[in-house]
Amino acid sequence: MKAKTKNVKTAKATTSRKAAAASAKKAKAASKKATAKKTASAKAKKAKPASVKKTKAATVKKAKKSTIKRAATVKKAAAPKIMMDVSPEEIFVPTYKRGGAPFVRGGGMYIYDSDGKEYLDFGAGIAVNALGHAHPALIKELNAQGRRVIHTSNLYYNEPQIELAAKLVKHSFATKVFLCNSGTEANEAAIKFARKRGTKASSQKFHVLSFSDGFHGRTYGALSATAQPKFHVGIGPLPDGFHYAPFNDIQYAKATLDNHDFAAIIVEPLQGEGGINAASVEFLRFLREYATEHAISLIFDEIQCGMGRTGTLWCHEQSGVTPDIMTLAKPLGGGLPLGAVLCIDDVASCISPGDHGTTFGGNPVACALGSKVIDIVSDKKLLTKVQENGDYLKGKLTTLADKFPSVDHIRGTGLIIGVRMKDDPLKLVDECRNKGLLVIKAGMNTIRFMPPLIVGRKDIDKAVKIFESALSAN
Ligand SMILES: Cc1ncc(COP(=O)(O)O)c(C=O)c1O
Repeated sequence: MKAKTKNVKTAKATTSRKAAAASAKKAKAASKKATAKKTASAKAKKAKPASVKKTKAATVKKAKKSTIKRAATVKKAAAPKIMMDVSPEEIFVPTYKRGGAPFVRGGGMYIYDSDGKEYLDFGAGIAVNALGHAHPALIKELNAQGRRVIHTSNLYYNEPQIELAAKLVKHSFATKVFLCNSGTEANEAAIKFARKRGTKASSQKFHVLSFSDGFHGRTYGALSATAQPKFHVGIGPLPDGFHYAPFNDIQYAKATLDNHDFAAIIVEPLQGEGGINAASVEFLRFLREYATEHAISLIFDEIQCGMGRTGTLWCHEQSGVTPDIMTLAKPLGGGLPLGAVLCIDDVASCISPGDHGTTFGGNPVACALGSKVIDIVSDKKLLTKVQENGDYLKGKLTTLADKFPSVDHIRGTGLIIGVRMKDDPLKLVDECRNKGLLVIKAGMNTIRFMPPLIVGRKDIDKAVKIFESALSAN
């Protein structure tokens, strides 16, 4: 019954979208006609008294003038060349250590810099480009929705956001969705929702538990839940009520939980930034049982490990444990900023209009892309390929681990594979980039291989070959 209602809603959304497109087409034609009429009458007006005597020469002069004007515009458009001579280090706040020529275009598994150098992209923009670069379905949607409407704000619904939310509900445990712009905002909202639910029961039920090496974002709430002291230096005081326990340590978690009245437990079923660490099934089961018993909202942060990355649509499916809230972002918007909080009714029912909001969240263009991404990554055939290709990549990297003593071991699931090195791998990451392979450091000494989910065996072979030659050179 529920699914039926949803389908009807989706169908309705599609139908009214078609109607909107048709009326937009009509309006466009009408406005074109009106503009043509206006231009003609303006021309006629201009041509009347003073210019009656004007000769052909004047028209030629006018034409020349407009050519000069156009040339000036072209010159202006070419200006970025001069702008690019500025060293980026001089004009950016140094929040990242980065260098090299800027990237200018991409296609499939490859991305190219302004010097024309080609890179095999096994970082996918930190697990964002699940469909690779310039995927035709996304380009088509980008153009089509761009022509319809680009922004509406959340004072109104827009069709792509309804369609996307309906799909997220259809494919998950959740019954309600909140759309935002990024991972940190999704976690920020999730923590607020959980605290709203908690403090409704008791004013002291606001505590939040998270785990070592987790990463939840850079805004104050999400950052406070990020149990990595290095990110907290020099920016305090942080909000009250955040507690930490070692990842996968059931006893420690229980002792901490017993100490306060908790509103939320937030955990990544598979830690990405922390170094590709999987939560054990027993750990997740314990958290679920404890959360249920004490009416705590269990939040799974699947911002990096969700949406097909591990070979199932949601990473938590593999444990059989279901959260009350799940946060998504990264690949959701097909490369555009988009985040989501998925939750059960018990959580959503504690939220009233005005409790939370966002101007840009659920942007129609981002959601139109998100809708396509969900269609593609929820396909069973693609998910099976992710599992198979992930095993293939892991197998190949394990062979290298046996060959190079600098490699400690390989871990990960699906297409999120970590190569644990014995030392800091930053130089090795740079060496890979020099050789045309993009990979990303995670935690203290892990290298992440997270290619787009569309990767094939040929590109896996190529990536491993480059990695091997970088290991040899290091
Ligand atoms: C698991 C997880 N949560 C949250 C975030 C924060 O996402 P964003 O950078 O979009 O704010 C990240 C980013 O790396 C992440 O990996």
